[in-house]
Amino acid sequence: MASLTTSSCLIFLLALLPPLAAVAVPRRHRFLPLQLAPVNASEPPTTFLEVDRPIQPPRGSVGPCSALLLSDSFGYTYGRPPATASYVPPECLAAARARGGSLALAVLEWSADCRGRQFDRIFGVWLSGAELLRSCTAEPRPNGIHWSVSRDVTRYAALLSEPGEVAVYLGNIVDSTYTGVYHANLTLHLYFHPTTPSPPPPPHSDLVLPISRSLPLNDGQWFAIQNSTDAQSKKLAIPSNTYRAVLEVFVSFHSNDEDWFTHPPNEYIEANKLSSNIGNGAFREVIVKVNEDIVGAVWPFTVIYTGGVNPLFWRPITGIGSFNLPTYDIDITPFLGKLLDGKEHEFGFGVTNALDVWFIDANLHLWLDHKSGKTTGGIVSYDTSTSANVDSEFSGLDGRFMSSASRHVSATGWVESSHGKVMTTFYQRFSYKNSNVYSKNGSEQVVNQTIDVKSGVFTTNGAVLHSEEVVHQVFPLYLFSGTSDEVGDEYSLVSAVKLGINEKRVSGGEQGFSYSSLRNAQSARGSMRVKGNLVTSGYGENHQVYKYLGTHGCYFRDVSSKNYTIIFDHSDDSCLKGSRDKDSRLPSR
Ligand SMILES: *[C@@H]1O[C@H](CO)[C@@H](O)[C@H](O)[C@H]1NC(C)=O
Ligand SMILES: *[C@@H]1O[C@H](CO)[C@@H](O)[C@H](O)[C@H]1NC(C)=O
Ligand SMILES: *[C@@H]1O[C@H](CO)[C@@H](O)[C@H](O)[C@H]1NC(C)=O
Ligand SMILES: *[C@@H]1O[C@H](CO)[C@@H](O)[C@H](O)[C@H]1NC(C)=O
Ligand SMILES: *[C@@H]1O[C@H](CO)[C@@H](O)[C@H](O)[C@H]1NC(C)=O
Ligand SMILES: *[C@@H]1O[C@H](CO)[C@@H](O)[C@H](O)[C@H]1NC(C)=O
Repeated sequence: MASLTTSSCLIFLLALLPPLAAVAVPRRHRFLPLQLAPVNASEPPTTFLEVDRPIQPPRGSVGPCSALLLSDSFGYTYGRPPATASYVPPECLAAARARGGSLALAVLEWSADCRGRQFDRIFGVWLSGAELLRSCTAEPRPNGIHWSVSRDVTRYAALLSEPGEVAVYLGNIVDSTYTGVYHANLTLHLYFHPTTPSPPPPPHSDLVLPISRSLPLNDGQWFAIQNSTDAQSKKLAIPSNTYRAVLEVFVSFHSNDEDWFTHPPNEYIEANKLSSNIGNGAFREVIVKVNEDIVGAVWPFTVIYTGGVNPLFWRPITGIGSFNLPTYDIDITPFLGKLLDGKEHEFGFGVTNALDVWFIDANLHLWLDHKSGKTTGGIVSYDTSTSANVDSEFSGLDGRFMSSASRHVSATGWVESSHGKVMTTFYQRFSYKNSNVYSKNGSEQVVNQTIDVKSGVFTTNGAVLHSEEVVHQVFPLYLFSGTSDEVGDEYSLVSAVKLGINEKRVSGGEQGFSYSSLRNAQSARGSMRVKGNLVTSGYGENHQVYKYLGTHGCYFRDVSSKNYTIIFDHSDDSCLKGSRDKDSRLPSR
């Protein structure tokens, strides 16, 4: 039974939760998919969206040339093999190559509809074992829903030019109550640099090797990490003429760890004899290893899926990252000296404090020396340190838990290729703070968390800086949840969420200088009346402000929804106006 929970974005089996009346602690569980006010089924379907900046083809590029990769329906697909289709590179790709053109942009578009009642489901899209998209579905309505997600997949150019196999795993369960079948089309859109003037050298890798599970499988190709000691890995050999290597990690958390950031320490659960098994505190860390070395970590953004907290928050504006989960890059070039021996090496993942279940896999992007069959390398320095601390203070069901953690990873190594002897340094600096306060005899919970990640890659030619890229990300999260007016198995739940991604990127080198700044914030609040695990009435509103400024363009959007309706929606893509006057219109709640 427990394995059923791995099918969805949510804690699937409410039957496993403690009887509601026994515990006053705010319920962190999922509600059955909402079917509130009667819906006029002949009204047009609702269109869900994740706010993001549009993907712009580079200036002067031509296209798109589009190819349908897969079209399928996901009914009772849980525990069955993924939907697959053979992939043949679109003819326009070979034709453009023959003309001397090159790929300027590749976009993968997932477009889906659904009608009826259904949970939100996690899904993944893989090409030849390399994951291209991790996403959560929207929850349908009787009148139907539609949504689409686009992801820039240009960095997989090497995979897109070879025949392969597309696989989509979306574990869905359909019965007489949960009737929603997801129908989806997966389309690839390609844009090309014309032959003249000569296109810039492609920044993408020459080879993409999947660190995932191979088909056949009755599951997704991701690894499932079930507890804090579980470690999953894959062995593979890399070409001996590799001169640069980057691991791109996909992460999502479900079932017992879907809202890990709200979990109290185990002592609190034990002292209060709470029968809930969702503890282990509020800190999680994904550790990425190559052989025995921790090459980097992922402190993931707190994605909230479409059924999370109060499902009416996310209709139709879905939670940040829920339709297009962020991925995390770890540059392992400094370690190449240990990997260029032509032998297999182990690439593995673990999650500190994990509860069942985390879905993790990665793509290894490799740059090869076309002028030499063999590169050499060596590690010069490597250092990692970590600390974690929890201050607990509680009496009965009330209390406060202050958790903090930090990690530092830094590695420097050289690689000698036909590009010369290049020294690469990669570092990550993480810090985390979580305050979790229960009050009113445990009926109210306030979580305030900040994850701060600084990372950078520098390459030098001995003394002279070649290139650098520095990224600073901050993931703030605030969550209020309070239960009241308990009568039998009925109660009211008031909740509020603020979450965001703030990111600054600076890079410089042969490709020129670029800078970008993103502030993406959502603020949602609402209430629900719950009977058993059914939401009998409810209300939810969400306000999102997205501000992106960069050397390659700008995008602003200020959008708000209430229940299922967009209240206002302002957007602007000019870099001149907008930034100043919109600064004064930050979410006010
Ligand atoms: C607090 O909640 C517990 C568990 O529901 C209950 O047994 C206890 O009586 C409550 N205490 C007060 C002061 O309301
Ligand atoms: C249902 O919606 C359709 C289309 O919007 C409308 O023509 C019809 O009158 C509505 N029916 C009811 C009962 O509201
Ligand atoms: C998928 O494509 C078919 C054929 O173009 C179209 O009829 C259908 O509506 C599409 N479905 C979705 C969910 O986009
Ligand atoms: C952790 O998960 C692994 C993989 O499912 C399992 O083999 C192991 O027994 C588990 N360990 C604990 C302590 O539950
Ligand atoms: C959350 O914590 C941050 C930093 O500790 C603080 O600035 C902020 O005011 C807190 N937010 C709330 C809503 O408590
Ligand atoms: C929407 O909002 C109103 C309050 O403004 C509420 O009465 C209504 O029941 C809400 N829920 C739905 C699902 O329409």
